[in-house]
Amino acid sequence: MSAHRPPLFQRVAIIGLGLIGGSLAAAIREQGLARTVVAGSRSTRTLEQGLALGLIDEGSQDLAVAVRGADLVFVATPVSSMGAVLKALRPGLAERAIVTDGGSVKGAVIAEARRALGDHFPRFVPGHPIAGKEKSGVEAADAGLYRQHRVILTPTPDTDPGATARVNALWAAVGAEVLEMAPDHHDRVLAETSHLPHLLAFSLVDTLARQGDSTEIFRYAAGGFRDFTRIASSDPVMWHDIFRENRDAVLEALALFRDGIDRFQNAIEHNDDEALMGVMTRANAARAHFLAMNERTSYTRARHSDDETGMTQQSNPTFLARPGGRLNGRLRVPGDKSMSHRAIMLASLAEGTTTVEGFLEGEDALATLQAFRDMGVLIEGPHHGQVIVHGVGLHGLKAPSKPLYMGNSGTSMRLLTGLLAGQAFDTELTGDESLSKRPMERVAGPLREMGARIDTGEGGRPPVRIHGGQTLKGIHYPLPMASAQVKSAVLLAGLYAEGDTSVTEPAPTRDHTERMLGGFGVPVRRDGATSTVTGGTPLAAGPLDVPADISSAAFFLVGASIAEGSELTLPHVGVNPTRTGVIDILKLMGADIRLENPRDSGGEPVADLVVRSAPLQGIEIPRELVPLAIDEFPAIFIAAACAQGETVLRGAEELRVKESDRIQVMADGLAALGVEHEVYEDGIRIVGGPFGGGEVDSHGDHRIAMSFAMAALRASAPITIRRCANVATSFPGFADLARGAGLDLEVHASKENA
Ligand code: S3P
Repeated sequence: MSAHRPPLFQRVAIIGLGLIGGSLAAAIREQGLARTVVAGSRSTRTLEQGLALGLIDEGSQDLAVAVRGADLVFVATPVSSMGAVLKALRPGLAERAIVTDGGSVKGAVIAEARRALGDHFPRFVPGHPIAGKEKSGVEAADAGLYRQHRVILTPTPDTDPGATARVNALWAAVGAEVLEMAPDHHDRVLAETSHLPHLLAFSLVDTLARQGDSTEIFRYAAGGFRDFTRIASSDPVMWHDIFRENRDAVLEALALFRDGIDRFQNAIEHNDDEALMGVMTRANAARAHFLAMNERTSYTRARHSDDETGMTQQSNPTFLARPGGRLNGRLRVPGDKSMSHRAIMLASLAEGTTTVEGFLEGEDALATLQAFRDMGVLIEGPHHGQVIVHGVGLHGLKAPSKPLYMGNSGTSMRLLTGLLAGQAFDTELTGDESLSKRPMERVAGPLREMGARIDTGEGGRPPVRIHGGQTLKGIHYPLPMASAQVKSAVLLAGLYAEGDTSVTEPAPTRDHTERMLGGFGVPVRRDGATSTVTGGTPLAAGPLDVPADISSAAFFLVGASIAEGSELTLPHVGVNPTRTGVIDILKLMGADIRLENPRDSGGEPVADLVVRSAPLQGIEIPRELVPLAIDEFPAIFIAAACAQGETVLRGAEELRVKESDRIQVMADGLAALGVEHEVYEDGIRIVGGPFGGGEVDSHGDHRIAMSFAMAALRASAPITIRRCANVATSFPGFADLARGAGLDLEVHASKENA
């Protein structure tokens, strides 16, 4: 592949030609990264095999001879022999030779290397490729072993940065993701995530094997035993070495685990169901979280991943919606996303315990929940929409040990930026591919005016780094755009600011933050378009009910309106006037939507929505309704495609910076179905009429995927919608619920990236 480029190295010596060394040799060969590859091994048989397999050009049993003239030496021998190996090869090392290794313990290897290499030590780059296979030995060598796997480099302060950069380039060239960290950090992390699990697997098998009739036990051993103990088949000598060489960190990890086991034992002994459920639900959520974080992708995909490394591409489902049908019945859509985020945030900062009912168990809200767990808040659940948050008070959050991963959720990132600006500790917020493209300066700007120290990434996008320990002062901020997220971020920072913090919005936007703060005993004063909060007021816990999300109901409001013969009841939907733009717009188009049993639920208006199919007409969408229906436009565009005449939307440039560019991505989808339209910078004109089927790319945008699924009710041919995994961010169970109501929708797994 790089045949036209000069190779990275002239002569690479691989010392120890097993799976790890042999695979690097194979990858170097495949990519043309060195002119010559030589191997050093005590075993002639191995060297012969290496030559026969074409992995190496030369081999020597004398390690000093093997490394002669090499500009890179890779030592892939067991950690326990590393000192002796380095000593043996030292006399042959060229002055400029870079030495690196593949040992899985770094502290001990670095100490040995310092002793053995002497003044050559600065050119030693400690490394650890996190890759392996069940099989070992040179015959298992695989040029693809490191592709999409991580390699951790742990340079010391003495290591020559130029040498580190060249080793980094080599690993990147063989397809690895290269990370750098301090050696002791590496050893601690590996002790917890690799060495401890291996130790437990060896120990469990040995404990059971020593029981009276072990054959009996193993004969009936179920899948759980097999899964848990698979790694006890690994090489005993290697693991003996690792436990010895990483002694301190392994012992620390073991002590930590012993605490956890004691807590478990206690809970069982005392029939403490709550504690038991707490452990299990936290573990479930945490596992999904770290897999998602590894992949920088959605929780659902991570949860269904059977790949332990989390490094391969996961299935991202395709929707296949067949034409026709109608929607009937009574269905409760999941809890409101905006309120679910705020419920976790405010309950965490409150004094006392808050029970939240109706919580949205979607990935966005789960990202917020996990962030607060990462900051030390004890949160039980979610379990059937119930979450119990043990608040820590305004100043009770703890520094998280790693960046907080927000997945796909802009609301989590923006609101948390405000809330974290007032903390005593530093934080970093990261997100998936889509969130990493979204603007964050809109919140960082006003927060800096308050005295916060915040860095955003390139182009004002994530990651967002918040430096804690700043004194915030109240400001008055006139919002340059109608954004509830920016308004909320400033008000949340205002909880930590001296004096009053106020925001004035150019048009009304959702006011859940203001209402919910009031419910937690922090009054938000409202004067026209201005909302004001006074810093330092403590929050008091109390029960919270999250109604069904009108943004999720919107797909069904549109679906039932456009499919003749439909009648749906959507119970307990939040109908806060700052959210009902979609109902107003659809009604202007002629939709038949009624609000029944209007009532108040914890400071938020709710009602049961009844919708019947009706002929729709195109309209000019009133500009003042735009912020009140901002998340529902993808669904409204489908209504417009089914209406008679033209529908025109202007003043909606904010749609371009949502989970996707919702104007362009919707326009592309409409084009695929043959719907006539014209795109404007700030909106779209859609000409209603009959349309066909086709293939639509949702660009991983949940609302676009669900909107096109509903379009099938009126399409003349099937609609295939790609990249639908993120439907789970706001509407877990959408496909089942829609199918139950009458939509002909299939979900197919497909191997694509989000
Ligand atoms: C939200 C505000 C809106 C909306 C988003 C949720 C919130 O974003 O689009 O889905 O919960 O505050 P903007 O504030 O960017 O308009």
